[in-house]
Amino acid sequence: MDYSQILQLQLRPNIIDLGWGHPDMQLLPHAQIQSATNAALHRWGGVMLTYGIDHGVGPLREQIADWIAQHEQVRPQLGEIMLSAGNSQALAHICTMLTQPGDVILVENPSYHLALRILRDAPVVIRGIPCDHEGVDVDALSAVLTECQQAGQRVAFFYTIPTFQNPTGTSLSPARRQQLAQVVAERGLRIVEDDVYRELWYEHVPAPSLWATLPRGTVIRLGSFAKSLAPGLRLGYITADVATIQRLAGSGLLDSGGGIAHFQSLIVSEIMANGDFADIVSLYRQRYGARCHALHAALLPLQAHGYQWYRPTGGYFLWMRLPAGRDEQQSLAQLEARGISALPGQLFSQGPLGYTALRFSFSLYDEATLGHAGAVIVDTLSN
Ligand SMILES: Cc1ncc(COP(=O)(O)O)c(C=O)c1O
Repeated sequence: MDYSQILQLQLRPNIIDLGWGHPDMQLLPHAQIQSATNAALHRWGGVMLTYGIDHGVGPLREQIADWIAQHEQVRPQLGEIMLSAGNSQALAHICTMLTQPGDVILVENPSYHLALRILRDAPVVIRGIPCDHEGVDVDALSAVLTECQQAGQRVAFFYTIPTFQNPTGTSLSPARRQQLAQVVAERGLRIVEDDVYRELWYEHVPAPSLWATLPRGTVIRLGSFAKSLAPGLRLGYITADVATIQRLAGSGLLDSGGGIAHFQSLIVSEIMANGDFADIVSLYRQRYGARCHALHAALLPLQAHGYQWYRPTGGYFLWMRLPAGRDEQQSLAQLEARGISALPGQLFSQGPLGYTALRFSFSLYDEATLGHAGAVIVDTLSN
């Protein structure tokens, strides 16, 4: 079947493509979504097929609030949540509603390359802040804030992925969290927290979001059903203080078009109510956790050759630093010749990274394929 006019994912024959951060379609819960869709249409009829309330339907917002309370011990009020069409749309909407031309947006360097694409669509200046295995370098962040202040530039927000970051797979350490909390309190920094991988933990439950731990009004957290359920639903949510949610939900876009993803919301509401959501998330943890382990284990011999990475414990990615002097494009060309594709570190950079790297995604393929791919990568890059 030719999906070229249907899917974003375009696989090439005879290439194991570890570049895509997409879910495995075989694991997506089509039977549960089918029965939830039938149940929702039966329950709601035409209500499901017309324009929805601007914040997004109340029942799903209540269920999301319960889910957050259960997992993060803080329950957002109904007015502190709105629905989105996923984190990409939410980020674009935040840029539209909360930035002015010439504003500075700070990002981790490296950061999710497609979030950088979204930010680059806005008339803003983007500045990368170095990060390492503990997350963002908060001293460097603070220094850039001072520079911006001295230059009379307004910093609109710091876009961060503190939990299972894309591309590095790492999470913000407790020490850095504390430091960041201090900077937020002292400098009035606003944070946009992309929390898309929260549910995909493979060893330990992640620390609560920055939204749950920093003072209200400082963090806008973007949650998504793209990784915890299915990206084709195009559904996510934003948690923030009431005033910010009112501002975001009070946009012309929603005034005209009604709540985002109204139809999908009522389907997902059924899935959360009937218990399927929790089961699906736990299946994903098992399956993607096994894949994560398989790729890491297969690549281990490379560590003796100067390749370095922090073993991911959540999310979709393994971020491999290459030994000094190893070129990204040349390494990718060698891998491509052996039937393996990945993404260059450069794609995720906003300013110099100071090292070369490759990003491998382990989400699309089963353990056997990843084991085989890992062996080919080891053979190719160790020579
Ligand atoms: C960090 C990060 N944010 C956002 C997205 C996209 O989120 P959504 O599908 O909810 O738009 C991804 C998907 O790869 C991601 O890795």
